[in-house]
Amino acid sequence: MSFTKKNLPVDVDAIKGFLADDEGEALFEAALNTAGLGPCLEVGSYCGKSTVYLGAACQQKNSIVYAIDHHRGSEEHQLGEEYHDSDLFDEQAQLMDTFKEFRRIMRKANLEDTVIPIVAASKLASTHWSTPLGMVFIDGGHSLDAAMADYRAWAGHVSIGGILAIHDIFPDPTKGGQAPYTIWRLARASGLFEELPTVNTLGLFKRI
Ligand SMILES: C[S@@+](CC[C@H](N)C(=O)[O-])C[C@H]1O[C@@H](n2cnc3c(N)ncnc32)[C@H](O)[C@@H]1O
Repeated sequence: MSFTKKNLPVDVDAIKGFLADDEGEALFEAALNTAGLGPCLEVGSYCGKSTVYLGAACQQKNSIVYAIDHHRGSEEHQLGEEYHDSDLFDEQAQLMDTFKEFRRIMRKANLEDTVIPIVAASKLASTHWSTPLGMVFIDGGHSLDAAMADYRAWAGHVSIGGILAIHDIFPDPTKGGQAPYTIWRLARASGLFEELPTVNTLGLFKRI
């Protein structure tokens, strides 16, 4: 049966987030096709939009998704920045907090048996990581330091035949930030991956 977002366990259009339909579908297909190689891991869950696509695929295959996010928002989500959402701001702590909304969405989507939230910075979460992964999806911080740290921390854990996906690839600097594109170029030059067709702004590679 071909993919339709209507078959997802929750209305993805109602989830706050930063993912186009065709990118979500590509994540779903990649997670479905690689679930047999190991669990899926994403860096940057925000309110769980991408996690629902990945989780729905992994649930079908009895696999799991590790969803890493410190839930304090990226640079562009902070108070006064372009993508700040005051509904997701913890007034008491004076910090962003997307975890409550993320949990609400996972529960609503019936994915609590499939998605393991890791509420931590990506680099910290990777410190003792040794499990080979069927798929890694990088959509965390978009500063060069953050993107490089994510690439260094996680790309090497993708199993042979598995998928590395990187969001927000903009070869034209007038269209978007260059940090994800920089790690996309690193992956392409690494000799570790075969480049797959990009879907909208979602870069995809297969580990060879
Ligand atoms: C663009 S949003 C992710 C969007 C999400 N994938 C979606 O589908 O809507 C980026 C997320 O990365 C998280 N983040 C940024 N830097 C991080 C880091 N170093 N470690 C963990 N999470 C980080 C932010 O808290 C934010 O929720």
